[in-house]
Amino acid sequence: MKLPITFAFAPLLLAASAWPTGCDFSLVGFGKDNPIGPTTGGEGGESVTVSSVDALVSAVADDAPRIVYAKGTFNLTSRLLIGSNKSLVGAGKGANILGSGITINGKTNVIVRNLGIRFILDNDGITTQNSTRVWIDHNEFESDINHGPDYYDGQCDIVRASDWITVSWNYFHDHWKSSLVGNSDVLRDVDYGHLHITYHHNYWRNESTRGPAGRFGHQHVYNNLYEDFLYQAIHSRSDNQVLVEGNVFMGNTSEALSTYGLVIPMDSPNTSPEGDPELDGFANLGAKNDWGPASINITQVGNFTKAPYKYKLTPLNQVQKVVKAGAGLGKI
Ligand SMILES: *[C@@H]1O[C@H](CO)[C@@H](O)[C@H](O)[C@H]1NC(C)=O
Ligand SMILES: *[C@@H]1O[C@H](CO)[C@@H](O)[C@H](O)[C@H]1NC(C)=O
Ligand SMILES: *[C@@H]1O[C@H](CO)[C@@H](O)[C@H](O)[C@H]1NC(C)=O
Ligand SMILES: *[C@@H]1O[C@H](CO)[C@@H](O)[C@H](O)[C@H]1NC(C)=O
Ligand SMILES: *[C@@H]1O[C@H](CO)[C@@H](O)[C@H](O)[C@H]1NC(C)=O
Ligand SMILES: *[C@@H]1O[C@H](CO)[C@@H](O)[C@H](O)[C@H]1NC(C)=O
Ligand SMILES: *[C@@H]1O[C@H](CO)[C@@H](O)[C@H](O)[C@H]1NC(C)=O
Repeated sequence: MKLPITFAFAPLLLAASAWPTGCDFSLVGFGKDNPIGPTTGGEGGESVTVSSVDALVSAVADDAPRIVYAKGTFNLTSRLLIGSNKSLVGAGKGANILGSGITINGKTNVIVRNLGIRFILDNDGITTQNSTRVWIDHNEFESDINHGPDYYDGQCDIVRASDWITVSWNYFHDHWKSSLVGNSDVLRDVDYGHLHITYHHNYWRNESTRGPAGRFGHQHVYNNLYEDFLYQAIHSRSDNQVLVEGNVFMGNTSEALSTYGLVIPMDSPNTSPEGDPELDGFANLGAKNDWGPASINITQVGNFTKAPYKYKLTPLNQVQKVVKAGAGLGKI
């Protein structure tokens, strides 16, 4: 009994020592502490390693608990539909998902880690819809911003009453619309009171809007690093609430945080060249943020003043170093 246990822990200790002290990669936030229980993914189920598209598609399809290690590059021809009770983890330095993105729809208890999700045309990198308990961690999302906002879609969109989710340690870069929470202001009855999401220690670089943009829910946004998030990073609109703390903004960012309801023209210039008016959202500021040269526009202070779980803030002056070292592929 003893030998395998030692074995299992040895790589963990090695990996931990390579990162700045205080870097804890375990699940934190709404994905862990919530009324229906922590996200455990495929824990307790079989472990399989897949290296072909067909094997990947069938390994994640059902609802049986399973840990699926993906090895190599997967050029998908249709969306990868992930079932409940799954951990999908890129092996080694990470697996690549190309061609089509990932959908988690009507499911519960799903973990996605260590995947490079790149250049998904006209659709999202990951869409989480009508699903609960999801942990999206240590992935890399990339495309480009030369083609405007609609050539690709979102990187990590969370919609239709999804709830109890943590998005942590991802590297989002070179993309227009990053992470939309609640995809329409007419879905108030569906979404209101759901969409509790924790975003922490993500690295956003060279992006344009939605870091994240939320409607009708609650998002705790802490210790993220934003570098050249060009137009608008955190947007809270349509009665959404955000608690924003310990984040760092560097480089060229016009607006770090806004609760002013208007969806800015730069978000969807093709469909709403004048912008799209919506109700304002709410924002609360917790621990100090470093806004850099970016502006903030808080029109309504809300009542999401404290996250209802335990978490450890990285000191503001270490956020840049810790997030750059810890976010993205090959770190877990
Ligand atoms: C992925 O597959 C498509 C065809 O479905 C092909 O056009 C494309 O070149 C492939 N991409 C890579 C990187 O192999
Ligand atoms: C797997 O997921 C389903 C929901 O789709 C749930 O009802 C079931 O209890 C889960 N099974 C286990 C073993 O966790
Ligand atoms: C949401 O998912 C549940 C399964 O978890 C399903 O029963 C329900 O029909 C879905 N609702 C919608 C609107 O798709
Ligand atoms: C931002 O992305 C665009 C195209 O995607 C690229 O041309 C530009 O060099 C990038 N800027 C930085 C600072 O990386
Ligand atoms: C910041 O980015 C905006 C949008 O791409 C651009 O118009 C502006 O020139 C940039 N400013 C600097 C100082 O680079
Ligand atoms: C800030 O919000 C107010 C509404 O309260 C709006 O009139 C103003 O234009 C906004 N400022 C910016 C810079 O967007
Ligand atoms: C928080 O504020 C919202 C929006 O004003 C309100 O609907 C809600 O009842 C408040 N919640 C509490 C617990 O006061």
